[in-house]
Amino acid sequence: MFLYAYVYNRFMLLVANWKMNFTVTEAVRNFKKFSKLESKNTEVIIAAPQVSLATLGELAKTTENCPLKIAAQNFDFHPNGARTGETGIAQIIDLAPYALVGHSERRMYYHEHDKDCAQKVAAALSVKIRPILCVGETALERERGHAELVVRTQVAAGLAGVPSNRLGEVIIAYEPSWALSTATNAKLCDPREAKRMLGIVRDEIKALFGAVGARKVAVLYGGSVDSDNVTSYARTSEAEGFLVGGASLNVYSFRDILDKMELLK
Ligand code: PGA
Repeated sequence: MFLYAYVYNRFMLLVANWKMNFTVTEAVRNFKKFSKLESKNTEVIIAAPQVSLATLGELAKTTENCPLKIAAQNFDFHPNGARTGETGIAQIIDLAPYALVGHSERRMYYHEHDKDCAQKVAAALSVKIRPILCVGETALERERGHAELVVRTQVAAGLAGVPSNRLGEVIIAYEPSWALSTATNAKLCDPREAKRMLGIVRDEIKALFGAVGARKVAVLYGGSVDSDNVTSYARTSEAEGFLVGGASLNVYSFRDILDKMELLK
């Protein structure tokens, strides 16, 4: 009962992860459609493709009553310097108040490890960007019974450089990579299992920072979330928001998710 009240009175987060989709022109067109969305109880964040980050970052600042905030999908934890092809954390300060860290696709395709994630979380906080640390096990890790250990390790490593007085700026998204809509043989994670794993995330934060600390961190769920299942994930899993990939590429499917979240209040 307590948790029910806790979740349902809370401001929620909805992150659209556009991944490597849209040219700058398409991203601007979509941004304009998304900026007409109405949300009272939900913070809507667009994780913009890097090539559009500057343009969308400026648009978010200059569009009147814009309900959207921008997140970077990735960055280098070095502020600047000799890193050809990279975008340093200091270069996105004015553009993105949020940044994803350690998305499973970055862990899988670009070999980002927990140590990189820890440095990125600390670098983001150092310039007042809120990191959205993504954690989650692969299908193989789950099959081998290692899901909890993997997630606990990722949470602990990612938070290693976070002082307790900055914990409230960190967001954690649990996204089992086998449940992403683009995964080979993707499976939907049962909302009860999502709840259990979100509980593991919270429990690990509690072990590190105590019960008060654990309550400061918003914990999101991601993995094939759409308008058909979002209510069930919100009610059952007690997630404090969602990270959405496929269903965020189209304003109508995204609006349907947002509308259902707004009704949860
Ligand atoms: P999905 O992606 O909603 O398409 O499963 C989520 C994510 O990768 O963040």
